[in-house]
Amino acid sequence: MNRLNILVVGGCGYIGTHMIKALIASGHRPITLDNLSTGHRDLLPGGDFIEGAIENTALLDKIFSSRRIDVVMHFAAFIEVGESVQDPLKYYGNNFSGTANLLNAMIRHDIERFVFSSSAAVYGEPQYTPIDESHPLNPTSPYGESKLWVEKMLTACERAHGLRSIALRYFNAAGADESGEIGEQHDPESHLIPLVLEVARGTRDHIKIFGVDYPTPDGTCIRDYIHVNDLVSAHLAAIDALLDGAGSKAYNLGNSQGISVREIIETAQHVSGRPIPVVEDLRRPGDPAVLVAASAKIKNDLNWQPRFESIEEIVRSAWKWHAKT
Ligand code: UFG
Repeated sequence: MNRLNILVVGGCGYIGTHMIKALIASGHRPITLDNLSTGHRDLLPGGDFIEGAIENTALLDKIFSSRRIDVVMHFAAFIEVGESVQDPLKYYGNNFSGTANLLNAMIRHDIERFVFSSSAAVYGEPQYTPIDESHPLNPTSPYGESKLWVEKMLTACERAHGLRSIALRYFNAAGADESGEIGEQHDPESHLIPLVLEVARGTRDHIKIFGVDYPTPDGTCIRDYIHVNDLVSAHLAAIDALLDGAGSKAYNLGNSQGISVREIIETAQHVSGRPIPVVEDLRRPGDPAVLVAASAKIKNDLNWQPRFESIEEIVRSAWKWHAKT
């Protein structure tokens, strides 16, 4: 096996820490670059660590000239759709301009393999479901736009500079490593599963259901939850594809199973054995009723298969982490 030097930008975040653990287990040498604006240094499972931002051109030049980097993986981004509407320049700045700066530095140093964390948010309001990669791209938030623009920039960079990339469009990342040592920790938390488990743990009184009048079987929104370690295994497959000479591609990453908000709450109740009081609230602006991925393309092209297919297993792994934090 090729032992690779992999720069993991945002390696101290939720998905980044799981990625680092898997890279080490696969025999690679990860180097984390993280500005710790939202990441957790204490959760980094290993490898080298450099504190800094992708806007810091001198630092990027220093990193790329001091060692041979085989692949860059880019997880560092702001991720709150609602916040991106309130404060768009934060998202266009870091998520888009910051990434342009990173790509520029890679091109200056002839580094040509890039794995990018994109999002289902590039599609906007679904026109059909499940969503495949040929669905129209009409993001409805600056967050989604920032991800789509990076994808467009990547296609142009391949044409102009030979920089090859794979963009992975995550649906709802969830769960935690089986070890219980790393997991999801956002501050403030806005994602459904961690919030529901905070209620189970007793650190939150109730969970609000944002909308009970959607055109879905139980009236609540349906999402496609994918285990974080299944996301990670797709990234490992993406690295292999880039080493084999794959060109720039974008893939959906989901389980292709729609789970409603009420089903998440029931599953969490069952897994934790604790009551989870619910308050029915108004719809959250901008939430599509149903977001489910068609993931056949990555299964066919990269031979990827999710290991965690049941929502119970996903929530159980998250509970193992949340119950002890
Ligand atoms: N929800 C509640 N109560 C809460 C929190 C969430 O009912 O307290 C609902 C939401 O309305 C939504 C579902 O639970 O229907 C899931 O919400 P999350 O905030 O956990 O996740 P989203 O589906 O909103 O967001 C995900 C990713 C984003 C990505 C987006 C694409 O986390 O990064 O999908 O639309 F941009």
